[in-house]
Amino acid sequence: MALIFQANNPKKPMASLTAGFHRHNNHRSHSSSASKIIIFFCLSAFLGLAIIANLFRASLSTHYLSIATNWVDTNAPVLILKLAATPHNSNNKGKDGKIAQRMGPQRFLSATFADLPAPEWQWEQMPSAPVPRLDGYSIQIKNTFYVFAGYAHLDHVHSHIDVFDFSINKWVDQIKMPNEMAHSHLGIASDGRYIYIVSGQYGTQCSGPTTASFSLDTATKKWKPLPPLPAPRYAPATQLWKGRLHVMGGSKENRHTPGRDHWSLAVKDGETLEQQWRDEVPIPRGGPHRACIAVNDRLFVIGGQEGDFMAKPGSPIFKCSRRHEVVYGDVYMLDDEMKWKILPPMPKPDSHIECAWVIVNNSIIITGGTTEKHPVTKRMMLVGEVFQFHLDTMKWSVIGKLPYRIKTTLTGFWDGWLYFTSGQRDRGPDNPQPKKVVGETWRTKLHLS
Ligand SMILES: *[C@@H]1O[C@H](CO)[C@@H](O)[C@H](O)[C@H]1NC(C)=O
Repeated sequence: MALIFQANNPKKPMASLTAGFHRHNNHRSHSSSASKIIIFFCLSAFLGLAIIANLFRASLSTHYLSIATNWVDTNAPVLILKLAATPHNSNNKGKDGKIAQRMGPQRFLSATFADLPAPEWQWEQMPSAPVPRLDGYSIQIKNTFYVFAGYAHLDHVHSHIDVFDFSINKWVDQIKMPNEMAHSHLGIASDGRYIYIVSGQYGTQCSGPTTASFSLDTATKKWKPLPPLPAPRYAPATQLWKGRLHVMGGSKENRHTPGRDHWSLAVKDGETLEQQWRDEVPIPRGGPHRACIAVNDRLFVIGGQEGDFMAKPGSPIFKCSRRHEVVYGDVYMLDDEMKWKILPPMPKPDSHIECAWVIVNNSIIITGGTTEKHPVTKRMMLVGEVFQFHLDTMKWSVIGKLPYRIKTTLTGFWDGWLYFTSGQRDRGPDNPQPKKVVGETWRTKLHLS
């Protein structure tokens, strides 16, 4: 322990050790030079080992800190991070291009993490939500926007709904959630009056999941329990489709393993007449954080990821630790045939978009998200583009830019305006890594073609 501490400054212990050696040497003038050399070599070897051990320990803790910064607002300095954030020349190239240039030949790097060219949009800031939110959920019913749950930070989760009124641009109400309801990674859908909430993560950090499911009557603000999901899921794709609540994909009990199961439950007016969930055709690819959207007779599942952070084994607070994850831009569709069809993928892989979408004029609009990690720094990269999926042609386009890159945004559309609130934003225009959890609300006039 002491040696490791000393080795923090390799010059000092070396000096004091040699000084000690000399003193020792002076008092014992009869020692043979051979034993002096042996002692010297032993000390040097020991010191060398200590330095190596310390470097190893330092690199581990740097890595550990960097994991934390992917999730929450922290000012902890991180070595690689600094390198990536330092603009190194003044040309107009995207900063990711600069990193790639600096760190190695660009042609060996996948470019899916980089910003895509997109028109700049004018955004207008609206009143912020009462609390900041990461991994919140939302449902829009006419001019009313219900914003659910989420993390304020890793050690605090919300257990209420904030309500925004698009017609007056004000946060107007707060509704308490049932104590047994999940706080993040839930499944959510609505029929225009009742909101259905399914499973999800119960608690802070990377806590365990619950199967508990509920409905909320937004007219009376009354909650009712629904039959629990057959097995818990984190952030499953969830949608109300042809009178049944469909729940599929998500992560399994350990928060990381993708589930492919697909269940449905007949629901009407916030209740079910069925005793249990029904098995449906499994989704081709499992995993959490996808957009799930029903349009007419078709059900779309868009983007998402396989793998996620999971609780550190044995951690009493379920401390989040990073695991391998792959983000994708796949689009799957179910229609009357009840067979999954594969449609053109998103312009880039995109995850954390469960509530980041709206349907406008026969198009799906998606805002922000997370994409592939940076191939060199391995940091999580946020998305700042707005995507349009044309439901008539099944084609994607990149139509605009958000005020900053952000994930887990909650998106709405009212009276020609595209709104988003909350999420975790980037470190700045030159740094697409996640940092601050925000409650900011923005809107822009939407003009689709
Ligand atoms: C949607 O279509 C209508 C009718 O063509 C048009 O007036 C409106 O501007 C469109 N909305 C957007 C957001 O582009």
